[in-house]
This record gives sequence, C-alpha cells and structure tokens, in this order.
Amino acid sequence: MATAALSFIFIFSVFTVASAICHPDDEQALLSFKSGITADPSAILSTWKPATDCCTWSGISCQAANNRVNSISLYGQLDNPKSYLSGNRFSGTIPSSISKLTELTQLKLGGNQLTGTVPGGIRQLKSLTLLSLERNKLTGSIPDFFTSFSNLRVLRLSYNRFSGNIPPSISTLAPLLAYLELGHNLLTGRIPDFLGKFRTLDTLDLSWNGFSGTVPKSFGNLTKIFNLDLSHNKLTDPFPVMNVKGIESLDLSYNGFHLKQIPKWVSSSPIIYSLKLAKCGIQMHLDDWNPSETYFFDYIDLSENEIKGSPVKLLNRTEYLVGFWASGNRLKFKLESLKFPSTLKTLDLSRNLVIGKVPKAVTGLTSLNVSHNGLCGGLPQTKFPATSFVGNACLCGPPLAPCKV
Ligand SMILES: *[C@@H]1O[C@H](CO)[C@@H](O)[C@H](O)[C@H]1NC(C)=O
Ligand SMILES: *[C@@H]1O[C@H](CO)[C@@H](O)[C@H](O)[C@H]1NC(C)=O
Ligand SMILES: *[C@@H]1O[C@H](CO)[C@@H](O)[C@H](O)[C@H]1NC(C)=O
Repeated sequence: MATAALSFIFIFSVFTVASAICHPDDEQALLSFKSGITADPSAILSTWKPATDCCTWSGISCQAANNRVNSISLYGQLDNPKSYLSGNRFSGTIPSSISKLTELTQLKLGGNQLTGTVPGGIRQLKSLTLLSLERNKLTGSIPDFFTSFSNLRVLRLSYNRFSGNIPPSISTLAPLLAYLELGHNLLTGRIPDFLGKFRTLDTLDLSWNGFSGTVPKSFGNLTKIFNLDLSHNKLTDPFPVMNVKGIESLDLSYNGFHLKQIPKWVSSSPIIYSLKLAKCGIQMHLDDWNPSETYFFDYIDLSENEIKGSPVKLLNRTEYLVGFWASGNRLKFKLESLKFPSTLKTLDLSRNLVIGKVPKAVTGLTSLNVSHNGLCGGLPQTKFPATSFVGNACLCGPPLAPCKV
C-alpha cells in the first residue's frame, strides 16, 4: 500500500513538472522576488521551486486564459484574523524584478516586515487594480508613478514609514479609486485639492501623519465617502461643508479644528456607526444633539471638548454601542441614571462633573474611567484599578480606601 502510494506521488510529481504551464518570465520574476526575501518563518515560499508550475505556488494565482500570474497574495499578520496566510511574516525588500509580472492585477504584501523603498519598476504593472503594501516598514517617498495605473481601485500604504508629500500623480486615479489608505506614516504637506475629484472614493485614511493646512473645500464633492479618517495631523480650520448623505465612520480627532458643533452632515447620516471628534473644539450641550440615527453606533469619542449636559438620552438611543469616550468635558449628570447598552465595553467619563454613585452595571465593562468627577458612595466590586476612580468627591471601598461606617 505504502509503496503504491509513494510511487503514485512520484509519478504525479513528475507529471506536474513535465506539464509546467507558468510563463517562464513570471517564474523568473517570482524566483527573483523569493531571493529578495531574507526570512520566511513559516516557509510559505518553500513551494516556490524552479521548474514547477508557478501557478500552483502558494500565494500565486494565474489567469485561466493565458496562465499568466495575475495575483500575488502574501499577507502576513494583519488585524483581520481571516486574512490569507495569517501568521507569516516576510523580511527583506521588494525586488524590482517584480516589474516583470506585467499581467499582475493584484499585489498584496501587507503585514510583513518589508524594508527599503517601493521599486519604481512597479509602474510597469499597468493592470494593477489593487496595490496593498500596508503594515510593513517601507521607507522613502511614495513614488510619483500613478499615471501608469488606469485601473487601480485600492491603494493601501498605511502603517509604514513613508515620508514626503502625497505625490501629484495620484490625481490620475480619480475616476476609479475607491480606497486610499495612507494612515500611520510620516507624510507631510497639505492635503491636495485634487482629492475632491475622487467621486468614487469610499475610504480615505490620512490619519497619524504630519499633514498641515486646511482640508480642501473640494472635499464637499466627496459625496460617496463612507469612511473618512483625518485624525492625528496638524490640520486647521475651517473644515469644509461636506455633501455626503451617509457617512459611516468619521474621525477628525486631534487636529487644530474648532468645529463648535457636530456638523449637520454627520448628525443627519442614516448609517453612521463610528464618530470620533476628540479635541475638535466642540462647545455644545449634549442633550441638544439630536442625530437622526443612533441605532448603529459602535463608537462615539467626544473627548477633550467643551461639552455640557448629559449623555443619558444619547446612550438610551443606542443599541450596539461598544465604546463611549467623553473625558475632559463638562458633562454633569447622575451616573446611575445612565442606561448601559449590553454591548458596552469601554466607558471613559474622566475629568467631567459627573455626580451620583457608581452603579453595579459597570462590572460588565472591560474598561472604565470615571476619575476626577463628583461621584460619591461605596464602589461595587470590580477589577478596575484605583486610577479609574481617583479624584472624586467621596468614593470609597476597594480599590480606594475603605468606607467609613
Ligand atoms: C465640485 O465639482 C464641481 C463640478 O466639477 C465644481 O464645479 C465645483 O467647484 C466643485 N466644488 C468644490 C467645492 O470644489
Ligand atoms: C429611554 O428610552 C425609552 C424608550 O425607548 C423611554 O421610554 C425612556 O423614557 C428613555 N429614558 C431616558 C432617560 O431617556
Ligand atoms: C483615567 O483617566 C485619568 C485622567 O484622564 C488617567 O490619568 C488615568 O490613567 C486613567 N486610568 C485608567 C485606568 O484608564
């Protein structure tokens, strides 16, 4: 039995070698890509062997029509646990030989440890629809080579060490680009006007960079944008009026904005689930905020503003809220009147004017901070540290000092 099976495998592998169908140029390019990889801890590239069909190598797929390689998908560790080949992490550089894979439509190398710059030769890959190099350690400027890509829909370069400006040639992607993710880099300069021409843009992430100046007025034309993250830059007023009907997720936190109010185009969204406007100079009374939809909210961050009143009405209107952050405001309400959505995990109300007692309902949270308020009374038994409770009028019991009977 064993011998029969073995000889079957032998014959079978001879057969595969003999019928290798992958294009020799593609094979060469991939082998040279492999030679640029200095570490491959989960040995994913062990299937990449000369004189075997490169269309069967892991992470590679070919077009059925001509057997040319059209996709490289070598994701390492990503946030998304379902991602292909999760757990693998390559080290090394992206070799310029990749430019020989001229029929490539998808290049996915996110979540690895790639270093060095993006080879200019990638401009030869004119059929690319998706270029995803996020979560690596790539450096240098983003190459100004985007006039080559007339089909690009997804550009993911977040979580690297790219520096310099947004290259002008990105403007040529306006007709089709749906995802532009440049967050968590070292990019500087102004946000270019031309981004307002990206009528099909679904997601724009420029967060955690050094962008300065104002957000272009042309953003008013981004009517299809669902996810906009400009947080953690040095952007200043005035913020443009947007004409988007249904923003899903917005983060403008930690810039130099003084929005005064939560913008109307945000409050009127029928599908918003994440709103983060920390340190945006908002001066409202929270009871006066009447968003048309609150049902889908997962995250609300209004920290470090000048917000008065009570979040009781707002939280009572949410069904799936997971995180609510409002530290550093002037909220004044009785904590025990807050209805905790059953989904709530994180609640930060530190540095406000909250009164009353800490209710038992907080025991269901994974993270709580009600420090520096006007709370009083015995604490329920929780796992939270003293820093979650310090600085109140008269809270007592573990982890604070015992209550005086
Ligand atoms: C929006 O697009 C229209 C048509 O292209 C243009 O005339 C207008 O100036 C744009 N608006 C902004 C704010 O750029
Ligand atoms: C919470 O909502 C319910 C119905 O949805 C309503 O009856 C109740 O008065 C609300 N409570 C507060 C404090 O707004
Ligand atoms: C609670 O917030 C205060 C002030 O905002 C901060 O200093 C403290 O570290 C926080 N504690 C916890 C447990 O998050």
